Amino acid sequence: MTIFPIVLLFIFHTSTAQTWIKAGYWYTGSEFPVPNINSALFTHLICAFAYINPSTHELFLRASDDPYVSNFAATVKKSNPSVIPLLSIWTPNGEYGNNENSSEFLTMTENPSYRKNFIESSIKTARRYGFEGLDLYVTTLLSTTENMNTSNLGVLFDEWRVAVDSEMKKSTNQKKLILTMAGRYSPELNSVNYPVDSVSRSFDWVHVRSYDYHTPLTENFTAAHGALYDPSSHVNTDYGINEWIKRGLAASKLVVGLAYHGYAWTLRDPTNSAIGAPAKGVAITRDGSVSYEYIKKYLRGYGVKPVYNSTYVMNYCEIGSFWIGFDDVEAIRVKVEYAKAKGLVGYNAWQVSNDYNWELSKAAAQEEDKYNNHKRILAITLCTVASIILVLGCIAFYLRKKIISKVNQLMNHRKPSYHNQQVISFSDIREATNNFSEENKLGEGGYGPVYKGKLSNGQEIAVKRLSHSSKQGFEEFKNEVTFATKLQHVNLVKLLGFCTEREEKMLIYEYMPNKSLDFYLFDPSRRLMLNWEKWIDIIEGIIQGLLYLQEYSRLTIVHRDLKASNILLDANMKPKISDFGIAKSVQNKEIEANTDRIVGTYGCVPPEYIKQGIYSQKYDVYSFGILLLQIISGKKNYNVYGPHQNLNLLEYAYVLWKGGRGMEFIDPSLNDAFSRYKLTRCIQVALLCVEEKWTQRPSMLEVSAMLRNEYASVPMPRRPAFSTNKDNEENKNETSEHVYSVDIATISQLVPR
Ligand SMILES: *[C@@H]1O[C@H](CO)[C@@H](O)[C@H](O)[C@H]1NC(C)=O
Ligand SMILES: *[C@@H]1O[C@H](CO)[C@@H](O)[C@H](O)[C@H]1NC(C)=O
Ligand SMILES: *[C@@H]1O[C@H](CO)[C@@H](O)[C@H](O)[C@H]1NC(C)=O
Ligand SMILES: *[C@@H]1O[C@H](CO)[C@@H](O)[C@H](O)[C@H]1NC(C)=O
Repeated sequence: MTIFPIVLLFIFHTSTAQTWIKAGYWYTGSEFPVPNINSALFTHLICAFAYINPSTHELFLRASDDPYVSNFAATVKKSNPSVIPLLSIWTPNGEYGNNENSSEFLTMTENPSYRKNFIESSIKTARRYGFEGLDLYVTTLLSTTENMNTSNLGVLFDEWRVAVDSEMKKSTNQKKLILTMAGRYSPELNSVNYPVDSVSRSFDWVHVRSYDYHTPLTENFTAAHGALYDPSSHVNTDYGINEWIKRGLAASKLVVGLAYHGYAWTLRDPTNSAIGAPAKGVAITRDGSVSYEYIKKYLRGYGVKPVYNSTYVMNYCEIGSFWIGFDDVEAIRVKVEYAKAKGLVGYNAWQVSNDYNWELSKAAAQEEDKYNNHKRILAITLCTVASIILVLGCIAFYLRKKIISKVNQLMNHRKPSYHNQQVISFSDIREATNNFSEENKLGEGGYGPVYKGKLSNGQEIAVKRLSHSSKQGFEEFKNEVTFATKLQHVNLVKLLGFCTEREEKMLIYEYMPNKSLDFYLFDPSRRLMLNWEKWIDIIEGIIQGLLYLQEYSRLTIVHRDLKASNILLDANMKPKISDFGIAKSVQNKEIEANTDRIVGTYGCVPPEYIKQGIYSQKYDVYSFGILLLQIISGKKNYNVYGPHQNLNLLEYAYVLWKGGRGMEFIDPSLNDAFSRYKLTRCIQVALLCVEEKWTQRPSMLEVSAMLRNEYASVPMPRRPAFSTNKDNEENKNETSEHVYSVDIATISQLVPR
């Protein structure tokens, strides 16, 4: 009968001795509201990042982060008082950028008084803001330190541990601070090693960055960026965890990373969408990284179900020529199960704001409950058995060990997204543009000249210089900077920085060597430089940019000035939407009315805005429709057409299409014989986009589906906005004829650029 309590004790002891860690990072750059974090799903929440001042070696918070970081602990504890908040410390040089150089941090470790400053200020900062632990983010340390001496790293770790322990002896009413380290998936790289002994002594646990193994920026093959296993390579989580254990870090000090983001590649051949298929670089975002939230919305938009691959433990999906690899709930569950089986202490998610309805966090937490239930049932079974026969108890003990050794572990997180804007000095810009010379002038925009330039590092730039007289321009300048900070997508032009020195207001963009769409659109000989397939790529790119603005970014944006001259083309003729000077963010996709002033470009502004000041996402749908009609016809929208020269572009397209003569509208140089994008379907979809009533226009998701899918049904368009004639069957009370009575002098740009 003695085995009965022993078995019981053993089982309950091992499951309660160490709490299972359910941690997650919150990153300031995500701009995700801290009160919206579902703290109940976590045992630890890590606030990222605090930085180290390179001259004083003390911790500091970025001014813009301060309000979030200083209230973080109190806020997350409000909804879950038992959650433990930690403050994470960024170790690579500099506050911004994806810097893999940690030379300043390593230099700090070499000097005893620098170390002391760092350690003391870290403890003080944690206490000041109510954090109950500190996390050291040193995942990139080993990649650029071949010539650095890392032996003092261990000294720092040991001193930090001593300081934290002795702080406790001094004050008895506080809990001891937790110390954790974020490390590489594997402890060794190019024969540089973490000082595993002092890591093991000094930190409560190490959570490994078990993701970002492969990215579309560095590899032209689709890959499992957070592979738990990889039959053909050592770059996988299971290998890394085993290496850590082999080098002396106990499994009970290891936490696996879970990635709440995936990576998007552009496939070379859409018929080959396997893991490892040839690809040609990134898709969707600038570095290809996409949040789980975005992926879920994207999949829902296209009605696509992802595939689960158990060899690598990942999910992936293909949409057109885009391929996205990520962890859906299946992969997350298997990774948590792995962590349990391997005897690790928990998981850590990067980053919680990327979750979608907390689906991944819930799946991870439930896996834990399920496991504990199994244990409980197992324990009861064992008790029954043990109370009958001692020998069976022994077998049960053996069984339990075997079951546990079957379960698995892993965890992982995502590269921070950085604020890319920087202040660029006037003198640098003057030098880059050859003192704003005439030769460098690219053109004259709505609010001033645009110059081409080359920074001293060789980067080509475009500089928009606000004319001093433009009051309007200053509002637009502020708007542009605000949005550019929040919006990042491959189909949006990238703002590199700005300058506000000496009364100057300048915006600095990446340089687009192929000018803008209007350069090609209306010139018959330049049009021949692009065939229909190339035009399709451009149309798809514009759609992707708009989908991002409307559906997938955190904000819902109405651009309000979408036109050919605002679609810039990069070296590969990839389109990028530019000019967010008059863009608006709308809450909850609701319409908003503002009749102060009519902005936008004459001919591209939909009737509801001119008449009632209403703007919604359908504003940009309307502008897109016009652009599409221009692309397929090569015609301008402010000319008049038809045998009597009395029809505007929209009405002309409608009349021809309605009469079954749509091909007469189309530029004869375009040939869709071998394309899945049919030109007549494009006219029909474009006509839906420019309907009079904004509520009847399709959403961009619907537009995208109708254009991509040859078999999707396309409704019959009604007579477009601004028609001078009326169809009999349509409501006679509509007063679209009268729109011309609006004082068009208030439209900011009378002449399309
Ligand atoms: C790292 O940064 C330091 C200081 O900024 C610089 O001197 C060093 O060359 C850099 N190392 C690498 C590998 O980039
Ligand atoms: C690294 O630093 C330690 C401690 O300062 C020193 O003992 C060791 O010789 C150094 N190693 C190298 C290769 O410079
Ligand atoms: C996972 O993908 C790889 C590469 O395409 C393939 O070889 C393997 O059979 C797949 N595994 C499963 C279980 O489908
Ligand atoms: C991937 O392919 C693209 C297009 O061919 C090329 O521009 C790029 O340099 C390649 N990238 C890598 C990492 O090989």
